[in-house]
Amino acid sequence: MVAALKNPNVDFRHRNLLGIEGLSAEEISLLLDRSDHYAERNRSARAPGKALSGRTVINLFFETSTRTRTSFQLAALRLGADVVNMAVEHSSIKKGETLLDTALTLNAMHPDVLVCRHPESGAVKLLSQKVECVVVNGGDGAHEHPTQALLDAVTIRRRKGRLQGLTVAICGDVMHSRVARSNIYLLHTMGARVRVIGPPTLVPGAMERFGVEVFHDMALGLRDADIVMMLRLQLERMQGSCVPSIREYFRFFGLDRQKLSNAKPDALILHPGPMNRGVEIDSEVADDIGRSAIQEQVEMGVAVRMACLEVLTRNLPRLEDG
Ligand code: CP
Repeated sequence: MVAALKNPNVDFRHRNLLGIEGLSAEEISLLLDRSDHYAERNRSARAPGKALSGRTVINLFFETSTRTRTSFQLAALRLGADVVNMAVEHSSIKKGETLLDTALTLNAMHPDVLVCRHPESGAVKLLSQKVECVVVNGGDGAHEHPTQALLDAVTIRRRKGRLQGLTVAICGDVMHSRVARSNIYLLHTMGARVRVIGPPTLVPGAMERFGVEVFHDMALGLRDADIVMMLRLQLERMQGSCVPSIREYFRFFGLDRQKLSNAKPDALILHPGPMNRGVEIDSEVADDIGRSAIQEQVEMGVAVRMACLEVLTRNLPRLEDG
């Protein structure tokens, strides 16, 4: 396990941000520190910055999104970039153009950054191998959602002052969750203890290989947890049904006050959104401003995406005016 080191001068060695896997503790800390900077700036300033002035960011989302797409757009605008949101449903993809031809077409227009979300694991990496611009993964299938894990980490770090040594329980549909995967990589690298909790049908068999503890009982898994991270039940990714009924799922795995009482008294509740109230989380705990950091996660989403766009484009050459 690698301890978190604070070194604001460390270089970020990667051209793209495709996942948390492979990032060092120093690189993660760099992104978290820059996110903190932008979180403070977003609370006090409205005038756009200049870090991305003259740059173009294209959002290419093949799956629905409220938080990720909007916050990448806001992040780019707040850094002075021009932003294009590709409406996939009105694009030539509907006429049969492939992902790679779409990517090559957009690349020929010389964007600086392409932010892509795609339902297939690995699709964003494939795209990154065909284009010259920076590529950021906005979520690929059940594989990774790196900026979500970064915004979760910055939220935790601001509330708890650290990541190292915390016990984080990730609960629910781990099987279909790119959020869980990216969080496991990040938390493990930063020295947190990670537990996953869910029914056997929703927890992959080989999870221990990721260095996490597996529980199938909420009361046991939540015992003395510092952070309770709930996951959405991703019905759209399931082949057939993985739970007997929604009512039964909520009874055994939905977070309510009674189950939460097993965690530490000051345990923080997180959820990446969108939430299914009454399925994986009860409104009473989701809306408890003393315990739930769900709205803060959304706020940190903009700051994290500003940090990522800034760090990834720092050393890109700029085209001359003419
Ligand atoms: N957490 C998250 O990725 O939300 P969206 O699907 O709304 O972007």
